[in-house]
Amino acid sequence: MNNDILKVLYSEEDIAEACKRLGTQLAEDYKDKTPLIICVLKGAILFMTDVIRDMDIYATIDFIDVSSYNGGTASSGTIRLLKDLDTDVSGRDILLVEDIIDTGRTLKYLEDLLKDRNAKSIKVCTLMDKPSGRVVEAKADYVGFNVPSEFVVGYGLDYEEKYRNLPYVGVLKPSVYSDK
Ligand code: PRP
Ligand code: MN
Ligand code: MG
Repeated sequence: MNNDILKVLYSEEDIAEACKRLGTQLAEDYKDKTPLIICVLKGAILFMTDVIRDMDIYATIDFIDVSSYNGGTASSGTIRLLKDLDTDVSGRDILLVEDIIDTGRTLKYLEDLLKDRNAKSIKVCTLMDKPSGRVVEAKADYVGFNVPSEFVVGYGLDYEEKYRNLPYVGVLKPSVYSDK
């Protein structure tokens, strides 16, 4: 295990199980549509590529990069659009894939953007939901885990851009922050 990790919240096996459950459900719900599956970079990169493996349906994928934490542990409150979609979303059934919903600001920003561009439908699949963190109203349709109010890293999620490559989700040792 990575030396900076205090404890593992969701193991590789836990995550694989959640991906299978969500992917199977999504495949069923979208079998008569051709959704545009949007990966919200960078955090959702691992989750999105795993969950779509259990979706044997017609679908297209795209990526959008937004950031508001700037590597830290608290939302700055300002969403920066770093890379836009390549796809025209007008008339499309959109499935947004996120790693975590915390304050809800990122999701709200993305939903507003997609509505503005005349998406036909918008659903949200997130690996983790932290309802205790909400500042604006935001709701996911598909949730892997409800997480306690702790700052988590791994499996796409970063602290100062590190730990995204860990195959599990965990909590950092306090010394990692205090050493700064
Ligand atoms: C994180 C996370 C979500 C968002 C959730 O992204 O990946 O996209 O914040 O937080 P919110 O509900 O409070 O908006 P971040 O801004 O850290 O960018 P990153 O995905 O590139 O790490
Ligand atoms: Mn993100
Ligand atoms: Mg981040």
